[in-house]
Amino acid sequence: MPAVVIIGGQWGDEGKGRTVDFHSQYCSVIARYSAGNNAGHTIMNDQGKFALHVIPAGIFRSDKICIIGHGVVIDPAVVLGEIQGLEDRGVSTKNLRISRNANVIMPWHPIIDKGDELLRGDLAIGTTGTGTGPAFHDKVARTGIRIADLLDAERFAERLRPVIEYKNRILIGLYGLEPLDYEEVYENYLNFGDRLRPYADDTALLVQEAHADGKMILLEGAQGSLLDLDTGTYPYVTSSVPASIAAGGPAGVGLGPTAVEKVIGVYKAYQTRVGNGPMPTEIFGQEAEDIRQGGGGVAGTGEFGTTTGRARRIGWFDGVLARHTAAINGITSIALTRLDTLSHAEEVKICTGYEIGGITINTMPATLWGMEQAKPIYENMPGWGEDVSEVRRLADLPVNARNFVKAIESLIGVSIDMISVGPERDQAIVTRDIFGTVIETK
Ligand code: IMP
Ligand code: MG
Repeated sequence: MPAVVIIGGQWGDEGKGRTVDFHSQYCSVIARYSAGNNAGHTIMNDQGKFALHVIPAGIFRSDKICIIGHGVVIDPAVVLGEIQGLEDRGVSTKNLRISRNANVIMPWHPIIDKGDELLRGDLAIGTTGTGTGPAFHDKVARTGIRIADLLDAERFAERLRPVIEYKNRILIGLYGLEPLDYEEVYENYLNFGDRLRPYADDTALLVQEAHADGKMILLEGAQGSLLDLDTGTYPYVTSSVPASIAAGGPAGVGLGPTAVEKVIGVYKAYQTRVGNGPMPTEIFGQEAEDIRQGGGGVAGTGEFGTTTGRARRIGWFDGVLARHTAAINGITSIALTRLDTLSHAEEVKICTGYEIGGITINTMPATLWGMEQAKPIYENMPGWGEDVSEVRRLADLPVNARNFVKAIESLIGVSIDMISVGPERDQAIVTRDIFGTVIETK
């Protein structure tokens, strides 16, 4: 069986968590392959409402193996807290495996993350402050500390001492802060290592064996493609290496690219962004607030960050960027989420092109300057004005909602096979399953 990547097609928070939660029923292994606990997924199922940051959304299915691959950077306190939180609510984590080669978010990383943001002033990226970016920075600088280092007292001392001396010079000299205490960090992280030991494994081998056995592997993307270092809105991006796009999937868990046969792109019926950087279709005022508060959807599912609680910026669906991310990721199937959130709107809009300095284009501008200047050209469509959260068949959607979905589908040129109409596991219209079997003819 092939590996399948599920990836966000916008700036994150597209509903990947619920999409993974749904498709994981068909897979044996669910693996996270990049990013850190900057990611946040909200999942609602028969066990309740959960916010996950590092643990794959497959954890709710007790017969599946869940893997945190070597491409992820891990804050031990966060993952241990998440494990405890799940166990306390009766969700078993016995099938969770964490790569011994994953880099660790160390105590200086969040400090540097926040310190750098202050130094950037008006040009701040708006990071999550979780230390994820600086942890990837250390990874590529080859000074990172890996999970395996925490499992070996001597090796850890050898790795930690020079790094902490180096980092302390930065904390004192650049930010005017107190240095970190070597002994304290050493004891704390050795203790984290002890608690993580039962989960630590050669996860690359595990996925390779599962693949060789013909098992279906789901590679769970964090963040959206527009936050990717190379293909997103640089420098207003996240720092994942391997990339947060689909190509990073196999690399981040230990598979070759030929293992991946399908890429499911998750797009919201509008879009959101947290943090700074260009967003050509951004809207403000009451129009944005109606969507942020959940629109016609379920109360309490508004657009606020799972990780930081920040109000998300809101914009209309951007077809130019959607086509870009479909191409970058090789998307073969689309899950369109939160259609219910637009049910209140009298009119809905889709951006089909940009106007920049009097010229019309329909591809993503290559420069940040171009992105900042881009004025959206919209196709305006009538809203559907009725609740769709109970709809389970495409044929039962109001005609205006169907037309809206169709317009997005033809703009991107990839089949929309799943539409979510609410946060619960079953609130979805599935027209084609993960194997390509048609469930409802369009
Ligand atoms: P960092 O990943 O914390 O360095 O933040 C870099 C940018 O990515 C900021 O704009 C963040 O708001 C954004 N970002 C990081 N993780 C997520 C996520 O899971 N969802 C949405 N935005 C994110
Ligand atoms: Mg999120």
